[in-house]
Amino acid sequence: MDVIEAVKKRKSIRGYKPDPVAKEVLEEILELARRAPSAMNTQPWEFTVLAGDVLENIKRSNIELLKSGVSPSPEHMVVGWPIESIYRQRQVNLAKQLFQLMDISREDKEKRAKWQERGFRYFDAPAAIIISTDCCLSESGPLLDIGAIVQTICLTALHFGLGTCIEDQGTMYPDILRKYAHIPDSKRIVIAIAIGYPDWDFPANKLQTEREPVKNIATWLGFD
Ligand SMILES: Cc1cc2nc3c(=O)[nH]c(=O)nc-3n(C[C@H](O)[C@H](O)[C@H](O)COP(=O)(O)O)c2cc1C
Repeated sequence: MDVIEAVKKRKSIRGYKPDPVAKEVLEEILELARRAPSAMNTQPWEFTVLAGDVLENIKRSNIELLKSGVSPSPEHMVVGWPIESIYRQRQVNLAKQLFQLMDISREDKEKRAKWQERGFRYFDAPAAIIISTDCCLSESGPLLDIGAIVQTICLTALHFGLGTCIEDQGTMYPDILRKYAHIPDSKRIVIAIAIGYPDWDFPANKLQTEREPVKNIATWLGFD
């Protein structure tokens, strides 16, 4: 698959087949993705790759906390937006499109809660990659580098027929990850990637999200 095809093809996958992903495949993805750039080649990323019983325990415990109303406590800044902004509008559009595909009405609190739980269960993916960084680094500094490697992982995964969903939801209860995945306190948990073979019959996977046209986001100078 060439780069342009991969960039066009990547999208968030929120429904997976139960088929496990071989450790060797995940290893190869990380082997390739570690070529991602980072500021001064600092490579401020570490991966905890989860599957099997460990992942099941994390999924179960996340849902228990969510259902008992425990407030999420992510260790990194989660994006926030002013209520009147285009950013909020885009977030609402995404939710509307997903809910429409999943046949979830605005009033249906139960179905909405079930949908939210999927995110905390890594969308039932058979594997998940937790990305963390060292606490000795500044909080925001490594985030650009981590963004670069996260996208590289998602693009590389396509080569192996795998789908991914980058997700904050998978890191909302860091204590659970620390307990079951043994991530020490010296590491800041930044983001999760659900990974597995896409279930193309799952309605939410049909979503093709929109993007702002380049003319609205780029300023060109000196091109005449
Ligand atoms: C930093 C980051 C955090 C995200 N967190 C979540 C999440 O918690 N739950 C979710 O369903 N999608 C999450 N996403 C996926 C975005 O919703 C998705 O990338 C966006 O809507 C664009 O759609 P696409 O990935 O299909 O192109 C996240 C993406 C990024 C980059």
